[in-house]
Amino acid sequence: MEHVAIIMDGNGRWAEARGLTRSDGHKAGADNISRIADAARELGLKYLTLYAFSTENWKRPPAEVACLMGLISEITEKRLPDMMKNNIRLRTIGRTSDLPLLARKSLLKCIDETKNNTGLTINIALSYGGRAEIVDAVNKILAEKKTGDKIDEKEFINYLYAPDIPDPDLLIRTSGELRLSNFLLWELSYSEIYVTDTHWPDFDKEALQKAIDSFGKRKRRFGGLNK
Ligand code: IPE
Ligand code: IPE
Ligand code: MG
Repeated sequence: MEHVAIIMDGNGRWAEARGLTRSDGHKAGADNISRIADAARELGLKYLTLYAFSTENWKRPPAEVACLMGLISEITEKRLPDMMKNNIRLRTIGRTSDLPLLARKSLLKCIDETKNNTGLTINIALSYGGRAEIVDAVNKILAEKKTGDKIDEKEFINYLYAPDIPDPDLLIRTSGELRLSNFLLWELSYSEIYVTDTHWPDFDKEALQKAIDSFGKRKRRFGGLNK
């Protein structure tokens, strides 16, 4: 087990249950990222991919989008020293050119400063859609190839956002919904799925450990027999 992907859902419901605003929920959710990153590091994971903002989340009210965009730069700046201390590397996937300048600047700075860190890689999905990723890959191929050229799955992967990162072993979705919501459509083909009712801001190290324990009991077959 080296790669866990998480759909960090339920900030709004977490806040609603406490009589707080959705922005309060997003703030609590953003703060939880560093706690789970620490836990992932302690558990020896190599990659943690976090779904933070989907291509469809742009449909939310402008004030909520602004709150989320503000949190991207705030958290990135605030956590950079800890990431350096803990040997964590930051990467992103998604149409990050859609993000406001301030968020982009903080992300680029953090990605650059952490690029030689060799411990946990945190891969944040921002303005990410699984369909967008596949379409972006196809457009890169069309721009490069000649009419009549053919490619196979192995070569196709090279055009995705993070070709060097192995597929997630485990997908976790917090807050109970039983759907992918356009996350990693290509990469999740054979990932194990774990859904918990716990809302993202409450998802802690113990909850992560529980998900990983459940993964340990699965029999992965990849379409074959007794693998
Ligand atoms: C996840 O929490 C954060 C984002 C999608 C940006 P939600 O905001 O979706 O919370 P719920 O699903 O409304 O509870
Ligand atoms: C998925 O959650 C996206 C993120 C967690 C960033 P949503 O809250 O957007 O998904 P739906 O709308 O419930 O499918
Ligand atoms: Mg949601």
